[in-house]
Order: sequence, then C-alpha cells, then structure tokens
Amino acid sequence: MARYTVVTMPGDGIGNQVMPEALRVLKAVGFDADYIHADIGWELWRSEGNALPGRTIDLLAMHKLGLFGAITSKPKKEAEAELDPKLRDKGYVYYSPIVTMRQRFNLDICVRPCVGFKGNPLNYIRKRPDGGFEEPQINATIFRQNTEGMYSGIEWTNPPDNVRAALDSHPRFKAFANVPGQDLAVSARIITRPAAHRIITAAFEFAKKKGFKAVTICEKPNVVRETSGLMEEVAREIQKTRFPDIQLWRNNIDAQLMWLNKNPEDFNVIVASNLFGDILSDAFAGLIGGLGFAPSGNVGNEIAVFEPTHGSAPKYAGLNPPIVNPIATILAAAMLVEHVGESDKAKKIWDAVGAVVNEGKVRTYDMMRLTGGPRVLQQGAASTPVMTDAILAKLSV
Ligand code: NAI
Ligand code: MG
Repeated sequence: MARYTVVTMPGDGIGNQVMPEALRVLKAVGFDADYIHADIGWELWRSEGNALPGRTIDLLAMHKLGLFGAITSKPKKEAEAELDPKLRDKGYVYYSPIVTMRQRFNLDICVRPCVGFKGNPLNYIRKRPDGGFEEPQINATIFRQNTEGMYSGIEWTNPPDNVRAALDSHPRFKAFANVPGQDLAVSARIITRPAAHRIITAAFEFAKKKGFKAVTICEKPNVVRETSGLMEEVAREIQKTRFPDIQLWRNNIDAQLMWLNKNPEDFNVIVASNLFGDILSDAFAGLIGGLGFAPSGNVGNEIAVFEPTHGSAPKYAGLNPPIVNPIATILAAAMLVEHVGESDKAKKIWDAVGAVVNEGKVRTYDMMRLTGGPRVLQQGAASTPVMTDAILAKLSV
C-alpha cells in the first residue's frame, strides 16, 4: 500500500486537462501515493442536484488529502435551467462546491504563493528613474482566512424584521432607517478570534520556517474598526508573545494595493481576512504570470485540499490537444507534497518548473501572450502535455 492516498477531483472543463499533468509530475518525483477519483462540479449538479456529492465528502473525510482541478458555476437562473428535468421543482439549490467544501471541513487557512520564476515573460517589470527597466524578484505568500469575513454567507436583501430591529439598535443605522426593505442589502462581515488566531499563527509559522523577517497584515482597522481591529489585535498579540524575532508590518488594504506597483518584492508573507486576502492574492498573482502560475492550498486541522486558483476556462476545455498552462496545478501538487512534509520532493518540482520557465524554450500560449485557440500550437506555443514533458525532463536530471 502507498504511503498516502490523494482524492483527485478534476471537476469541470480544463480541470480535466490539468489534473492528469499534475499526477504525472507526482509520479515522476517519486511521491508514494494512491489516487482515488472523486466527482465534483457542474455535471454533478445537473445530473444529481448536488455539485459536491456525499460520496466525495466521504472520500475526503477518509483520506484527508485532496487535489482539485476547477469547477464551473453559473448564476441561479441558469443553474435551475440546466438541472435534469426530473429533478426540477424538488427544492434543489446550487451551492458552490468549493465554498461548501471549505466550510464543511473548516479548511480555514488558504495559502497562496505568488512566486516569480526567472525568465517568465509575464513577470512584472518597473520603470527606473533613469528610464530603464527592472524586474523585481517577487516571492509573496498570501495567507487568506478562508471561512469567515465577507464570505460567511450571512446576508440579506430586505432583511427580516428581527434583523432589521437589530440594525435599528445601532446608532449609525439612523442614516438608513428610512430605506425600504427591498432597497436594502446587508452582508455581515464576521471575524472570530479563534479563526483570526489560526490564520495569523499560520502566517508567522511560515515566516519562521522560511526565514522571512516580517509578516504584513493587510486590513483597514481605522475604518472597519471592529472586524479589522480584531485581526490586528490578534496579530499584535501573536507577534509579541510567540514570534518576537519576526516583525509585524501593518498596511491598510488599499495602500497595500497601491504599493504593489512600488515595492512588491518587499513583501514575503501577508495575512488578511477573506475578501481582502482574495483580492490581494489575485493582485499579486498578476505580477508573476497570472492564472497559469497561481496555486493555492485550503488547509484545515485535519484535511487539506490543493488547487490551481483558476477556474474551468470552458472556452478551451474542448481543445485536443489541450493548450492551457498546467503549471498552477503542478505547483498545487507541490504544495500538497510539502504539506505532508516531503519538502525535498516539493522543492524538486518547484525547481523543475523554474528551470523550464527560465530556459524559455517551452512556453504555453499564455506565456507568449497569444489569444487562446487551436492555432496557438502553430504559432509556437506548447500544448499542456508538452509543457509537462519539459518539466518531467528537468525532474530527471
Ligand atoms: P477562468 O479562470 O476559468 O478563466 C479565465 C481566463 O483565464 C481563461 O479564459 C483563460 O484565458 C485564462 N486561464 C485560466 N486558466 C488558465 C491556464 N491554466 N492556462 C492559461 N490560461 C488560463 O475564469 P472564468 O472564465 O471567469 O470562469 C470560468 C468558469 O470557472 C466559471 O464557471 C467560474 O465560475 C469558474 N471558476 C471556478 C474557479 C474554481 O474552480 N476554483 C475559480 C474561478 C472561476
Ligand atoms: Mg479569487
């Protein structure tokens, strides 16, 4: 029996194209695992009324390690229209399976490394005062709280009377007191101390392990005083009591985004609540090559699921051979390997990807800034499996 069992959930669209590539890399690096397929995504919604069937939840609960591709999700009306007619009007409601998975297993720590590879033509460059250009080395890992904040899902349009009464009890609600219910939408931003504690501790532990000198917290405590205030309070306490050798930098979220342009290379570890972390990680990913290069991990106490940040890119899903960049998923697989403690194998994967990117001979269409489509292969772009072949070749040297 293999040492690990990984539940593989390719999902929809290009999820099915990138998953096999990541598995080839895991096998080549000698990661000792069995792989069990599990169903997730849009087709499951259509045929069963549930994008995350119970059998998939059971497999994750049993094996505790997942690699996920991508899913398609669509607005409410389209979801209803695409449901199998036999299931219609039976009370089925579409929920995003990823959000459900994160909440069901409390995968509260989202880790999103944004690491620039030398030689990547998509890397961010900056103009120097003398008119020349420089390419800062970006190595930022964003720790995003994954289950609370603006994504806790506690929201209303036309809030019920008891909610309205609670709002009325706040002095600041006077300004909204005359707004009719149907014109009023409210989303609750909930932050709890234990969850803040876990995400901030994870960020500091990572900084310590990797030898980074500072953790930056990106919130907005001057305005969002209660929830961002709690995040900062917990961060100060953790820094003072447990990590006095690591600095705590505090940047407001808006200022941090402005600084992306100025000095993104100064930030190695960033921690933020759910929405801010989501925005920040996409912003940083844009500096290092975008969706084709952005992996992520959803880590709970017991269970962890790794995935590329991108979605199912339906417009490319039908192409054979596939053209999308498998690197984000391959790096997600490397994160999984690192998560179980096999850092040497994880490093081999990162290094092999880095070597291929730096050499510049094999590039997927996104790296050449081509418009996607079947023609990109004639234009010199590598297909998805050819990119993996190049990475495998570097792994074996
Ligand atoms: P998307 O990430 O699927 O694609 C956006 C564009 O990014 C693509 O058209 C393509 O040009 C590029 N792209 C994405 N992955 C790439 C790769 N590996 N290599 C090269 N280029 C790549 O986002 P979009 O189009 O907004 O959404 C499509 C579907 O995916 C929707 O149904 C959406 O709900 C879902 N989605 C799912 C996510 C997930 O599974 N985690 C995340 C984001 C969107
Ligand atoms: Mg996002």
